[in-house]
Amino acid sequence: MNVIKKLWVLLLAAPAMAIASSEVHLDKVAIDLNNQASLQRGAKLFTSRCLACHAASYMRYNRLSDIGMNEAQVKKEIELPEDVQISSKMQSVMDANTAKLSYGVAPPDLSVIARSRGADWLYTYMRSFYIDPTRASGWNNTTFPNVGMPFVLADLQGEQILKIDKHDGHEIKSLVLNTPGSMRSDEYDSAVTDLTNYLVFMGDPGEVMRHKIGWIVLAFLSILLALVYVLKKEIWKDIH
Ligand code: HEC
Repeated sequence: MNVIKKLWVLLLAAPAMAIASSEVHLDKVAIDLNNQASLQRGAKLFTSRCLACHAASYMRYNRLSDIGMNEAQVKKEIELPEDVQISSKMQSVMDANTAKLSYGVAPPDLSVIARSRGADWLYTYMRSFYIDPTRASGWNNTTFPNVGMPFVLADLQGEQILKIDKHDGHEIKSLVLNTPGSMRSDEYDSAVTDLTNYLVFMGDPGEVMRHKIGWIVLAFLSILLALVYVLKKEIWKDIH
C-alpha cells in the first residue's frame, strides 16, 4: 500500500475510531435559546433544585432579564430568599466544605458546565441515574459512573434500575423505570430539556443578545439597501 493510500485509510477510519472509543451513548437535545418560556422553566428548576449544593458564581439573578424575567418575576418565581439581593451572584446554599464531607467531592460550580460537558451530555446525565445500593448516596449514573451526586430529581422522574441482558457474550445495559415519579417520561424529558437549555444560556448569557443585535443589523442593512436603490434610480433617471 502506498503512503497516500495509507493516509486515506487513516482519515476515513478516524471518525469510526472516535465513535467506538466513546463508551456512553448521548441522547440529542434540541437547544433553543430563543424559547424564553423554556429558559424560564429551566431557571426555576435550576434555582430550586441545584443551588442547594452547586453555585453558579458567574451568574447574577438580575441577568435573568436576558430571558425575559423582570425583577418582580425573579423575586416571586425564583423565590429569592429575603436576604439575597437581586444583583447577587448565584451562590450555593451549602458551603463547599460541608458538601465535600457529605458527598466525598465538592459539587463543582455550574456556570459554564454546558461549555465543558456539552448540552447532549448534560441532557443524558440528568436522565441516567439509577438505584445502586452499593453507593453511599444510593445512586449511580450510566453517563457518569460512580458519581458523588445523589439524584435530586427522583421525585419527578421516578426510580430507574439498571438491567443487564447477556447476548452472545455481550452485555447490553438498559435503564428501566421501576417506580414512577410525578412526571410522565415525556414530561420529564421536556423538563430536563428546559434545564439543559438554561444551563447552555448560563454558559454564555451574551449569546441571546448577540443574536438579537445580529438581526437588528441585518434589518438595518436591508433598509439601507432599499434606500440606496431608490437613490440610485433617482440619480440616474435623467441620464438615460
Ligand atoms: C445534594 C447536593 C447536590 C444537588 C442538589 C445537585 N448536585 Fe450536582 N453534584 C453534586 C456533587 C457532590 C457532584 C460531584 C460528583 C462527582 O464528581 O462525583 C455533582 C456533580 C454534578 C455534575 C457533574 C459535574 C462534572 O464533574 O462535570 C453536574 C452536571 C451536576 N452535578 C448537575 C446538577 C444539576 C443540574 C442539579 C440540579 C438539578 C444538581 N446537580 C443538583 C451534588 C449535588
